[in-house]
Amino acid sequence: MKGTCILSPARQLTEEEQSLVWQKTPSHIGSEAEERIYQEVVRNWNRGEMKISTILLEGDAGSGKTQLAKALSADFNLPYTKVTCFADMDKSDVLGSILPVLPEKDDISGKIEYQYYPSEIVRAYENGWLLEIQEPTVIRDAAVLMALNSALEPDGSLNLPTRIVHRHPDFIVVITTNRGYNGYRPLNEALRDRVQHAEKLDLPPKAVMMERAEAKTGYHSENVLSLLGETIILMDETARANAIKGVAGMRSYIFWIDAVASGASVKNTLYHKVLYKITTDPQELAILEQALASHGLTDKLAELDTVCHSHSDGENPEVMELHISESGEYTAEADKADKNAIRLRKSADSEGHSDTSCDKNTDVSSNDNGEDGTPFYHESDKSDTIELQKKNFVNS
Ligand SMILES: Nc1ncnc2c1ncn2[C@@H]1O[C@H](COP(=O)(O)OP(=O)(O)O)[C@@H](O)[C@H]1O
Ligand SMILES: [Mg+2]
Repeated sequence: MKGTCILSPARQLTEEEQSLVWQKTPSHIGSEAEERIYQEVVRNWNRGEMKISTILLEGDAGSGKTQLAKALSADFNLPYTKVTCFADMDKSDVLGSILPVLPEKDDISGKIEYQYYPSEIVRAYENGWLLEIQEPTVIRDAAVLMALNSALEPDGSLNLPTRIVHRHPDFIVVITTNRGYNGYRPLNEALRDRVQHAEKLDLPPKAVMMERAEAKTGYHSENVLSLLGETIILMDETARANAIKGVAGMRSYIFWIDAVASGASVKNTLYHKVLYKITTDPQELAILEQALASHGLTDKLAELDTVCHSHSDGENPEVMELHISESGEYTAEADKADKNAIRLRKSADSEGHSDTSCDKNTDVSSNDNGEDGTPFYHESDKSDTIELQKKNFVNS
C-alpha cells in the first residue's frame, strides 16, 4: 500500500522495539480507514499543534479496530503495545507502581528495597510507541481518567512517583471502543475531546467480511461464504433491534466458516459458533430463530447440509473422495489409498447431484496444511487447477 514510513527518520529502534512492531500477516487486507489515518498522520506530523497523535476507533465488536491499530504500527514502523482497561483500574495502572523488591537469598540485613515499575502506558509514552487503549469507557474512577487524560496531552509530561517523564514525540495513542451495544458506556467527554481523528467502524459490508474470512481460513466457496455472511448480518441486526446483549460479528463468522470448512454441519455449527455466542436465553433464541426463518435462511442453511447424508458414521458427510484417472477424469468410486484421490466438498449449488457438471458446481478441496498446521482449502472450477492438484498429490 505504501513505502516504509518512519515518522522520525533519525530514530533508530532497539532490537526489543523492532520486535514489538507488528508485522502484517498475509491475511491482512488494507482498508480505507487505514489509508485515511496513515495519510492524515503523515500530512500533519511536522505541523506542530496540528500533529495527529490521538486517534479514536469506535464501533462494532470485531469490526477490525485492534487489527487497524496494529496495522498502523506496521505502517509507521512503531512498536505496538496495548492496555486493556477495566472498571476498577487505579492510578498505578496508568502511572506505574512502586513495589518491594525481594531480597537476595544471602541478604541478612533485613532492609527492604523498593523499585518503580512503569505501566505499559508509561513505557509507550516515554519511548515513543503506538499504544492501543482498549475500552477506556469502563473505567469508573475519575482520578484514573484524569491521569489518562494528562497522558494524552500533546506536549505533556507525567508526574511519576520517582521522576517526571516527558512525552516522546513519536507516541501515538489509538483508543478503541465498542459503542452502541447495550451495556457499553459512552467515552468520557474529556478523553473524547483530546482525540484528533476519529473513525466509526461498523461490521464491514458482506463483501469485505467474505474477503477477510476467506483470507483467514483459506476457504473459498463463494456460496457458503455469502450465505453465512448474510446470516451473521441478520443475527447482528436482530440482536440489536431486540436489545439482545450478545454480538454476532466477524469473530463468529470466521470461526463458523472455519468449522464448516473442516466438514462440520452448517446447521449445528450455527448454534455453537453464532447463536449461543449471542445468547442462551430460550426466548431470545426464539427471536433469532424466527428472524432466520422469516428471511428464508433456515431453509437455505439446511440445504447446504442436505448433501451426502448417505455416508456412514465416522466419515465426514460433506466430503467425498473423487478419483482422478490417468487421463485426468474423475469418478466418485475412489480407492482411499490412491494417491490420485482428491477431496471434494459439495457447495450449496451442487445440491447433492453428481450428474451436474463438477467443473461448475463443486468446490474441490484438498487437505493440505499450512505452515502452522491449519488446513487450507483449495477451490477449483477449472480443469487446469485439478491437473495441478493432481500433480501435487502425485509428488507428495
Ligand atoms: N483488515 C483486516 N483484514 C483481515 N482480517 C481482519 C481485518 N480486520 C480485522 N480482521 C479480522 O477480524 C477479526 C476481528 O478483528 P479485531 O481487530 O480483533 O476487531 P475489534 O478489535 O474491532 O473487536 C479478527 O479475526 C481479525 O483478524
Ligand atoms: Mg479489539
